[in-house]
Amino acid sequence: MKASTIKTVGILTSGGDAPGLNAAIRALCISGKNNYGMKFIGIRNGYRGLIDNDTFKMDTIDLEPLISQGGTILGTSRVKPFKNPVPDPKTGLLPVEGIKETFKKNKLDALVCLGGNGTNTTASLLSEAGFNVIGMPKTIDNDIVGTDETFGFHTAIDVATHGIEAIRTTAKSHSRAMVVEIMGHKVGWLGLYAGLAGRADVILLPEIPYDIKKIAKYLKAKKAKGQNYFIIACSEGAIDLNEAALSKKEFKKARESMSQSVGFRVAKEIEEATGIETRTSVLGYLQRGGDPAPYDMILATKLGSAAADFLAEKRFGNLVAVKNGSIVATPLSVVAGKVKEITEEEPVLKTARDLGICFGD
Ligand code: F6P
Repeated sequence: MKASTIKTVGILTSGGDAPGLNAAIRALCISGKNNYGMKFIGIRNGYRGLIDNDTFKMDTIDLEPLISQGGTILGTSRVKPFKNPVPDPKTGLLPVEGIKETFKKNKLDALVCLGGNGTNTTASLLSEAGFNVIGMPKTIDNDIVGTDETFGFHTAIDVATHGIEAIRTTAKSHSRAMVVEIMGHKVGWLGLYAGLAGRADVILLPEIPYDIKKIAKYLKAKKAKGQNYFIIACSEGAIDLNEAALSKKEFKKARESMSQSVGFRVAKEIEEATGIETRTSVLGYLQRGGDPAPYDMILATKLGSAAADFLAEKRFGNLVAVKNGSIVATPLSVVAGKVKEITEEEPVLKTARDLGICFGD
């Protein structure tokens, strides 16, 4: 056992869940206990439980099977303690004061926050406020700045790719175009990877505004060559050229007034512009539900175990990140408030373009 002055550590999961969270929690608790004699306190439902002191001892739980279990045993929420803070009606405490109390009551030396952009932005603010915090990168969106990888992403690629493959057979039988809507409001990593693996004809991403005329021309040309069905992998945040010209506020308003998600609009536009019968399938929460793929089990375990080392070495205010296959510390201040977008230099995008996939641009 190695020496560590960090003895008691809180753990929370926040934001949308993702496969691999339980594997990361398990590895953190096992490594922390075995190597440093640390004790872990589970905090329920993200920052909600941290504010309200909703906690339990992790040693009351059988950690072993967690490596392969989806979801999060801690529960999650999208509560943001620093956004429009108001005093608690019962205690009169502001969220950050509630958090201080929870630290005190549980004798926490440090806190590990597992989550995506929102979670790690809050973790950064907590760190600035003087709390000993470490962040871990979880999201099916793969959009966290300062890390090459996030756990949950590979499992979601598997699910979305299998979804596309299942839709392919019915598309072929009916000679239809099928729009498969894939998660990713702000970024299209999942749409790009699943679209490429699932052999989509067209991939629509939030980063590349589409021109329906270009998509129609591309599909008609393929039809003329004898292709009878088409797959359009469409990110839920895909935008067209008109939307790209809107201000952030105008865009938000326009999206809120849509009665259906963007995949349905794209299907209507394709049908009108090409005459090809078109349908939409929204893969939705299937993409982040279920158990992790082995790749995510390993990645989450690697990061969870490294988080125990970060704690012992007091590398607070950092995200346990991956760069070129190695574990590195990325300052939470670098991660906070940003989104990792796909750029034209992205090799997977280049590959997809080289293979002739249409991006509507
Ligand atoms: O962050 C993961 C994510 O699944 C996004 O891809 C998706 O847009 C969003 O969460 C959905 O969130 P909610 O659970 O709040 O509906």
